[in-house]
Amino acid sequence: MNHPAILCLSAFAAVSLHAAAADAPVTFTKNIAPLIFENCTQCHRTGEVGPFPLTNFAEVKKKAETIATALGDRVMPPWRADEGAEKFHDARVLKPEQIALFEQWVKAGTPEGEANDLPPLPKYPAGWMLGEPDLVLKPAQSYEVAAEGNDVYQAFVLPTTFPADRYVAAVQVRPGNAAVVHHVLLFLDTSGRARELDAASPEPGYVSFGGPGFLPNGSLGGWAPGSFPRRLAEGIGMRLPKGADVVMQVHYHRTGKPETDATQIGIYFAKEPVEKRMRIFPIRAAKLRIPAGEANYGTEGWLPIPADVTLQAIIPHMHLIGKEMTVTARLPDGTEKKLIHVPDWNFNWQMNYRFIEPVKLPRGTMIHLAARFDNSEANPRNPSKPPREVRRGEGTTDEMCMAFLAYTVDAEHIPANGEVTGFPDTFVLAK
Ligand code: HEC
Repeated sequence: MNHPAILCLSAFAAVSLHAAAADAPVTFTKNIAPLIFENCTQCHRTGEVGPFPLTNFAEVKKKAETIATALGDRVMPPWRADEGAEKFHDARVLKPEQIALFEQWVKAGTPEGEANDLPPLPKYPAGWMLGEPDLVLKPAQSYEVAAEGNDVYQAFVLPTTFPADRYVAAVQVRPGNAAVVHHVLLFLDTSGRARELDAASPEPGYVSFGGPGFLPNGSLGGWAPGSFPRRLAEGIGMRLPKGADVVMQVHYHRTGKPETDATQIGIYFAKEPVEKRMRIFPIRAAKLRIPAGEANYGTEGWLPIPADVTLQAIIPHMHLIGKEMTVTARLPDGTEKKLIHVPDWNFNWQMNYRFIEPVKLPRGTMIHLAARFDNSEANPRNPSKPPREVRRGEGTTDEMCMAFLAYTVDAEHIPANGEVTGFPDTFVLAK
């Protein structure tokens, strides 16, 4: 959390926790409001993606039991990794004391407390957070989201016309209608395939799901509710190839009434000179063929690292019946480093986990991915009823098992020796 209003609330929350420990009665205004305002209200307020508002006593009281369960099960706030702010930027994890505090409040009968104790609602940053972007891209027409039906994954083609490659330091996605936009992924296409898919589809953009429907030639990252745009470290840039189309895949939730969205993206170019390119490469499970009914299917994959690289971020990716993923690095000296562990996967929260301390992976490191899937009838997230054999693919009822590694190559010094070539840096989504 890097917003000043949120920071000062953190200080407030620490004081309140202290008070609770001294056996003072737990009240909404004194103890619970700071916790909720700091961690939840950003998404749980009118016009945002949270399914109900949590902005005052009555709203929180009404949902108290559900909230206690969601906190206890660590479903909310949405953060799927088992490690938080000590390792990743913008982590959202409650401390066990905070969860206990909420339970204590529910047990005490959700008392309101003194009006004087109530902190003000935080002010949320609006508009372009890193200043005016160098380039704003948006679809030519807004998109109509119907009231009912399954979630939609609509991909919009946003052409660029630069005569040479450019390097991007940050991208901010600004949902036009935050109540329906659940997450956004940005792919790059230089093949023209996305345009063809768009042309073949009457509505703005075209329908997709796990991937964009073509082999992307890069990425500009993505966005999930509550994620902050963050500039890459000085000297690092994501390449926007000349003439590339940015393909913006938006995952829409429905609200029960017709909605309109016009999501736009703001692009900030890297300050020249760019020394290193941010590259993205997936580690994938070697096998993915999940028998119908199998509740605990395990699979794994390996990736040897061919040069000294520095890992900047990791993005686990599975579909609906994914359960758990662990990615570790075995360094040439034999040490094992856990990169990420997602103990309870949720497709709804495709997150980009950015390391605060980028991880050095010397040449000869072996990356290992292990994952589990639940293809049983008992899994409420299983889209196939009855279950069927599931294989690799981009559809809702297919699966994927990979983690994207966002890294830089240590030997690369672009102005001096040019780009280091021979490194695969393509998003490979299909098999
Ligand atoms: C980044 C946005 C975001 C934040 C932050 C967030 N929520 Fe949510 N919340 C959602 C969305 C979206 C849903 C709908 C379910 C989903 O997509 O996972 C949801 C669903 C819920 C639910 C229903 C869960 C269920 O099982 O149906 C509860 C309860 C909840 N949130 C409480 C909280 C509380 C309490 C916090 C703070 C500790 C919080 N949320 C923080 C976005 C958020």
